[in-house]
Amino acid sequence: MAPAPFVAGVPLSTSVFKADIFKGKVLFCTGGGSGICRGMTEAMMKHGADAVILGRQINRLTKAAEELTKSTGRTCIPAQVDVREPKTLAAAVAKTIEQFGRIDYVICGAAGNFLSPISNLSENGFRTVIEIDTLGTYNTIKATLPHLRKSKGSYVHVSATLHYRATPYQVHVSAAKAAVDALSSVLAIEEGPHGVRSNVLAPGPVANTEGADRLSNKSNYLEMKQTLPLGRVGAIEDCANAGVFLFSDAAAFITGQTIVVDGGNEHLRTSYLPYPQAVLDPASIKDMIPAKL
Ligand code: COA
Repeated sequence: MAPAPFVAGVPLSTSVFKADIFKGKVLFCTGGGSGICRGMTEAMMKHGADAVILGRQINRLTKAAEELTKSTGRTCIPAQVDVREPKTLAAAVAKTIEQFGRIDYVICGAAGNFLSPISNLSENGFRTVIEIDTLGTYNTIKATLPHLRKSKGSYVHVSATLHYRATPYQVHVSAAKAAVDALSSVLAIEEGPHGVRSNVLAPGPVANTEGADRLSNKSNYLEMKQTLPLGRVGAIEDCANAGVFLFSDAAAFITGQTIVVDGGNEHLRTSYLPYPQAVLDPASIKDMIPAKL
C-alpha cells in the first residue's frame, strides 16, 4: 500500500497533496537529522521522494534515516558532513549519486544558534555561525548545482524572520540569515534560465525544535501563543507542508521568493497595541493615547 501523505491537522488520507508527486525524485537535506528539516524530509518522502539527510552527528542521522525509511516506505540514507567543509559535501554528493543516480531537491537547513549580546560575542562565535549558516549554504549550493541543472531541480533554504527587524542577542544569526536570503534570490535569477528554482522558507516560532529550545524556555513559548495572530505557535508540519508546496509543480513559476511560515507573527511584531486585548476591547486603546498631543 502506498504510504500515507503527510498533512498536519487533517487525516493523512485526505492530504491536499497527491501522494506520488515526488515519485522517482531525490532530496538532499542538510540538517535533516532533526527538527524542521527532518519534518520537511519526512513530508517529501511521504509524497514519493527518496532522501539523503546530512549533518555532523552520524549516530543521530543513522537513527533518523532508519525511522524515516520505516515511516514512509521510501529510502533515506545518512551522510556525515560539516557544511563548512566542501570536501565532506563533495563526498556526500558522490554517495547520493552512487545510491540514487540523481539529485532533484536540496534543502539548505544546517544552522547554528545561541543567544549572545554583541558585547559578549567573540569573533570566533560570530564567525562560527556565519560559517555554518551562510558559507554552509554557499558550499551546499556549489556541491549540488551541477546535478540540479541536470534534473532542473529546486532549492529551499531554511532561513528565519528575526533579521527583518532587529532581534536582540541574535546579531550573528541575523547577519547570517540575511546573507542566506540574498544568496537564494541571486541564485534564483542566475539559475532560472537553467531551469533551477530557489526559494526561502522562513519559519517563525515553531515548537519542538532545537532552535526553539535554545532561544526560549518552554513556559515562555506556551505563553507566547496567546500573543500570536493564529493563537498558536507553529508546528513542524506547517513548515513541512510549505516545503512540499515550494518543491511541487504548483510552485513552478515561483522563484527568488520567501514564504514566511509564522502564523502572521512578523506583521504583528512592530505593533504598539497590546494584542489581542485591544482588538477584543477597543475602548482600552484610549488609555494609550495622551489627552493632548
Ligand atoms: N554564547 C556565546 N558564545 C558562544 C556560545 C554561547 N552560548 N556558544 C558557542 N559560542 C562561541 C564559542 O565560545 C566559540 O568562540 P570562542 O572560541 O571565542 O570561545 C565559538 O562560538 C565556536 O564554538 P564551538 O562550540 O567551538 O563551535 P561548534 O562548531 O562546535 O558549534 C555552535 C557551533 C556554536 C553553533 C553550536 O551552538 C552548535 O553546534 N549548535 C547546534 C546546532 C544548532 O544551534 N541548532 C539550532 C539551529 S536554530
